[in-house]
Amino acid sequence: MRSIAVLTSGGDAPGMNTAIRAVVRSGFHYGLSVYGVYEGFKGLVEDDIRPLEREHVSRILNRGGTVLRSARIPEFSEEKYQRIAVENLRKRNIHGLVVIGGDGSFKGALALHKLGIKCIGLPGTIDNDIAATDYTIGFFTALNTAMESIDKLRDTSFSHQRCSVVEVMGRHCGDLALYSGIAVGSEFIITPETGFDREKTLKAVQNSYERNKRHAIIVVTENMLDVQTLAKDIQAHTGYETRATVLGHVQRGGSPSAFDRVMATEMTEYAVELLSRDIGGKIIGLRGMNVVDYNIEEALEMKKKVSNKRYGLVGKLVNNEVK
Ligand code: F6P
Repeated sequence: MRSIAVLTSGGDAPGMNTAIRAVVRSGFHYGLSVYGVYEGFKGLVEDDIRPLEREHVSRILNRGGTVLRSARIPEFSEEKYQRIAVENLRKRNIHGLVVIGGDGSFKGALALHKLGIKCIGLPGTIDNDIAATDYTIGFFTALNTAMESIDKLRDTSFSHQRCSVVEVMGRHCGDLALYSGIAVGSEFIITPETGFDREKTLKAVQNSYERNKRHAIIVVTENMLDVQTLAKDIQAHTGYETRATVLGHVQRGGSPSAFDRVMATEMTEYAVELLSRDIGGKIIGLRGMNVVDYNIEEALEMKKKVSNKRYGLVGKLVNNEVK
């Protein structure tokens, strides 16, 4: 194998740039030339594939977003476009591809792998929603952003004796809400894994009010409910004046945390090592603190395990339960 390429796909995540840099530097270490594909699978189809040199990845390790940019291209599920992508790679003698993204991106990687391009998937998303790994690149930076934002909301909630209902991202995975809720000592956490129990939620807030707490924090995973409606409900049925905040895309930006940088580097180095040995069709993950790999098909079939231990901790502290 002489040449490999790298692309970032789906929602961007802090640490993607760290991984891109590591692809280039590890690639050179193994004697490979490295190409960058711009705007994910769209760039593969539109032939926006350019050589990457050291200077292209210098001083990007600590930058948020992705210098290769990202785009969603639903048509890539059609074989016609996959074949165009393969053709564009082949004409440059690129036989290996690192795909940094989530499950949707890995489906694209699997399709290309079946057409003869050795593909390795690296989990890059703030959602931590990939079953084949305990951790996705970007999750801990987004978690810190959520935690710091909620800490700030608590400052103002305390001053005014208010309840804050905070929506965090996660798509359909409750990890960002669960971890940030624990990190800020929230009153209640509502995630796809706990479901929404209105009575319990109101009771938890009312209990805080009766204990004369000056603030109450509810952390909710997006797509669960309308936080404005919940805030009105809480205000109508408990003693607290209540405000709702949607943290939104601020959670996707920012300089990657030390953990995201270290793990992105370690996982990427392993991905490139596999490609240098002509091994593809894998997803890299982290189990505990160990870097592991799975066949892409096997990885895509896995179901993410709910962290009963962590929900148990929440249960003891704030009476949430997993469904
Ligand atoms: O997958 C990352 C993520 O930020 C999710 O948490 C969120 O649901 C989604 O992407 C938002 O997508 P978009 O940037 O297209 O609005």
